[in-house]
Amino acid sequence: MLELTVNGTTHSVDADADRPLLGVLRDDLGLTGAKYGCGEGQCGACMVLVDDQPMAACITPLGAVAGREILTVEGLACGDHLHPLQQAFLHQEAFQCGYCTPGMLMAALGLLKRNAAPSEPEIVSAMQANLCRCGAYRQIVCAIREAAGTVATGPEGGVVR
Ligand code: FES
Ligand code: FES
Repeated sequence: MLELTVNGTTHSVDADADRPLLGVLRDDLGLTGAKYGCGEGQCGACMVLVDDQPMAACITPLGAVAGREILTVEGLACGDHLHPLQQAFLHQEAFQCGYCTPGMLMAALGLLKRNAAPSEPEIVSAMQANLCRCGAYRQIVCAIREAAGTVATGPEGGVVR
Protein backbone atom coordinates (compact mmCIF):
# COMPACT_ATOMS: atom_id res chain seq x y z
CA MET A 1 0.00 0.00 0.00
CA LEU A 2 1.37 3.39 -1.03
CA GLU A 3 0.22 6.83 0.04
CA LEU A 4 -0.35 9.39 -2.69
CA THR A 5 -1.18 13.02 -2.01
CA VAL A 6 -3.07 14.39 -4.98
CA ASN A 7 -4.54 17.88 -5.06
CA GLY A 8 -4.21 18.05 -1.29
CA THR A 9 -5.95 14.76 -0.55
CA THR A 10 -4.04 11.69 0.60
CA HIS A 11 -5.05 8.34 -0.87
CA SER A 12 -3.91 4.86 0.07
CA VAL A 13 -3.30 3.01 -3.18
CA ASP A 14 -2.88 -0.74 -3.47
CA ALA A 15 -0.57 -0.86 -6.46
CA ASP A 16 2.94 -1.90 -7.44
CA ALA A 17 5.57 0.77 -6.92
CA ASP A 18 6.67 0.47 -10.54
CA ARG A 19 3.20 1.10 -11.97
CA PRO A 20 3.02 4.39 -13.92
CA LEU A 21 1.41 7.27 -12.05
CA LEU A 22 -0.84 8.12 -14.99
CA GLY A 23 -2.76 4.86 -14.83
CA VAL A 24 -3.26 5.19 -11.10
CA LEU A 25 -4.55 8.74 -11.43
CA ARG A 26 -6.96 7.85 -14.21
CA ASP A 27 -8.04 4.31 -13.37
CA ASP A 28 -7.77 4.12 -9.59
CA LEU A 29 -8.52 7.70 -8.53
CA GLY A 30 -10.83 8.70 -11.38
CA LEU A 31 -8.76 11.77 -12.21
CA THR A 32 -8.93 11.69 -16.00
CA GLY A 33 -7.63 15.21 -16.64
CA ALA A 34 -4.11 14.04 -17.36
CA LYS A 35 -4.23 12.38 -20.79
CA TYR A 36 -2.52 9.39 -22.35
CA GLY A 37 -0.77 10.46 -25.52
CA CYS A 38 2.49 8.74 -26.40
CA GLY A 39 3.08 6.79 -23.21
CA GLU A 40 6.80 7.43 -23.64
CA GLY A 41 7.40 10.82 -22.06
CA GLN A 42 7.49 12.55 -25.44
CA CYS A 43 4.27 14.58 -25.76
CA GLY A 44 3.38 16.15 -22.39
CA ALA A 45 -0.31 15.20 -22.50
CA CYS A 46 0.02 13.46 -19.14
CA MET A 47 1.98 16.17 -17.35
CA VAL A 48 1.36 16.82 -13.66
CA LEU A 49 3.30 18.72 -11.03
CA VAL A 50 5.20 16.79 -8.38
CA ASP A 51 6.49 19.11 -5.68
CA ASP A 52 5.94 21.92 -8.21
CA GLN A 53 8.05 20.23 -10.90
CA PRO A 54 6.38 19.19 -14.18
CA MET A 55 6.64 15.44 -14.67
CA ALA A 56 5.30 13.09 -17.32
CA ALA A 57 2.97 10.83 -15.36
CA CYS A 58 3.09 8.11 -18.04
CA ILE A 59 6.73 7.31 -17.28
CA THR A 60 6.78 8.20 -13.59
CA PRO A 61 6.60 5.14 -11.34
CA LEU A 62 4.30 5.34 -8.38
CA GLY A 63 7.12 4.60 -5.97
CA ALA A 64 8.92 7.77 -7.07
CA VAL A 65 6.07 10.05 -6.05
CA ALA A 66 4.71 8.40 -2.91
CA GLY A 67 4.67 10.93 -0.09
CA ARG A 68 5.20 13.87 -2.45
CA GLU A 69 2.71 16.59 -3.42
CA ILE A 70 1.06 15.81 -6.75
CA LEU A 71 -1.04 18.44 -8.49
CA THR A 72 -3.23 17.57 -11.48
CA VAL A 73 -5.34 19.81 -13.65
CA GLU A 74 -8.35 18.96 -11.46
CA GLY A 75 -6.63 20.80 -8.62
CA LEU A 76 -6.30 24.13 -10.43
CA ALA A 77 -9.75 25.65 -10.12
CA CYS A 78 -11.05 26.70 -6.74
CA GLY A 79 -14.73 25.83 -6.77
CA ASP A 80 -16.26 27.85 -9.59
CA HIS A 81 -13.19 30.07 -9.88
CA LEU A 82 -10.84 29.06 -12.62
CA HIS A 83 -7.13 29.42 -12.12
CA PRO A 84 -5.66 32.48 -13.95
CA LEU A 85 -4.01 30.13 -16.41
CA GLN A 86 -7.31 28.45 -17.22
CA GLN A 87 -8.96 31.84 -17.66
CA ALA A 88 -6.15 32.96 -19.94
CA PHE A 89 -6.38 29.80 -22.07
CA LEU A 90 -10.10 30.46 -22.50
CA HIS A 91 -9.58 34.14 -23.23
CA GLN A 92 -6.87 33.47 -25.81
CA GLU A 93 -8.71 30.44 -27.26
CA ALA A 94 -5.50 28.49 -26.73
CA PHE A 95 -6.87 25.10 -27.75
CA GLN A 96 -8.86 23.37 -30.42
CA CYS A 97 -9.50 19.73 -29.49
CA GLY A 98 -8.20 20.35 -25.96
CA TYR A 99 -6.35 17.05 -25.64
CA CYS A 100 -3.02 18.70 -24.89
CA THR A 101 -4.53 21.38 -22.65
CA PRO A 102 -4.26 19.72 -19.21
CA GLY A 103 -0.59 19.00 -19.79
CA MET A 104 -0.01 22.47 -21.20
CA LEU A 105 -1.62 24.04 -18.14
CA MET A 106 0.49 22.04 -15.74
CA ALA A 107 3.73 22.72 -17.61
CA ALA A 108 2.85 26.42 -17.71
CA LEU A 109 2.11 26.43 -14.01
CA GLY A 110 5.44 24.78 -13.32
CA LEU A 111 7.10 27.53 -15.33
CA LEU A 112 5.26 30.34 -13.53
CA LYS A 113 6.18 28.84 -10.19
CA ARG A 114 9.84 29.05 -11.19
CA ASN A 115 9.60 32.34 -13.06
CA ALA A 116 6.61 34.61 -12.45
CA ALA A 117 7.31 36.81 -15.46
CA PRO A 118 8.89 34.69 -18.20
CA SER A 119 9.90 36.20 -21.51
CA GLU A 120 8.48 34.71 -24.70
CA PRO A 121 11.70 32.76 -25.42
CA GLU A 122 11.61 31.43 -21.86
CA ILE A 123 8.00 30.31 -22.35
CA VAL A 124 8.81 28.61 -25.63
CA SER A 125 11.81 26.88 -24.07
CA ALA A 126 9.86 25.72 -20.99
CA MET A 127 7.04 24.30 -23.13
CA GLN A 128 9.28 22.24 -25.42
CA ALA A 129 8.13 18.96 -23.90
CA ASN A 130 4.45 19.68 -24.67
CA LEU A 131 3.11 18.97 -28.13
CA CYS A 132 -0.12 20.30 -29.63
CA ARG A 133 -1.31 18.44 -32.70
CA CYS A 134 -3.78 21.23 -33.41
CA GLY A 135 -0.98 23.75 -33.67
CA ALA A 136 -2.32 26.20 -31.09
CA TYR A 137 1.18 27.15 -30.00
CA ARG A 138 0.85 30.88 -30.75
CA GLN A 139 -2.29 31.20 -28.61
CA ILE A 140 -0.79 29.03 -25.87
CA VAL A 141 2.22 31.33 -25.57
CA CYS A 142 -0.13 34.35 -25.49
CA ALA A 143 -2.21 32.71 -22.77
CA ILE A 144 0.83 32.03 -20.61
CA ARG A 145 1.98 35.62 -21.04
CA GLU A 146 -1.49 36.83 -20.07
CA ALA A 147 -1.60 34.61 -17.00
CA ALA A 148 1.87 35.68 -15.98
CA GLY A 149 0.65 39.27 -16.05
CA THR A 150 -2.36 38.35 -13.95
CA VAL A 151 -0.21 36.52 -11.49
CA ALA A 152 2.24 39.37 -11.22
CA THR A 153 -0.32 42.15 -10.83
CA GLY A 154 -3.60 40.43 -9.97
CA PRO A 155 -5.98 41.82 -7.34
CA GLU A 156 -5.58 38.76 -5.18
CA GLY A 157 -1.85 39.18 -4.85
CA GLY A 158 -0.95 36.96 -7.73
CA VAL A 159 -1.02 33.70 -5.86
CA VAL A 160 -0.02 30.83 -8.13
CA ARG A 161 -1.28 27.49 -6.94
S1 FES B 1 1.56 10.44 -22.61
FE1 FES B 1 3.04 11.01 -21.19
S2 FES B 1 4.43 12.24 -22.30
FE2 FES B 1 3.03 11.50 -23.80
S1 FES C 1 -5.59 21.68 -28.82
FE1 FES C 1 -5.64 19.76 -29.86
S2 FES C 1 -3.72 18.88 -29.39
FE2 FES C 1 -3.58 20.88 -28.61
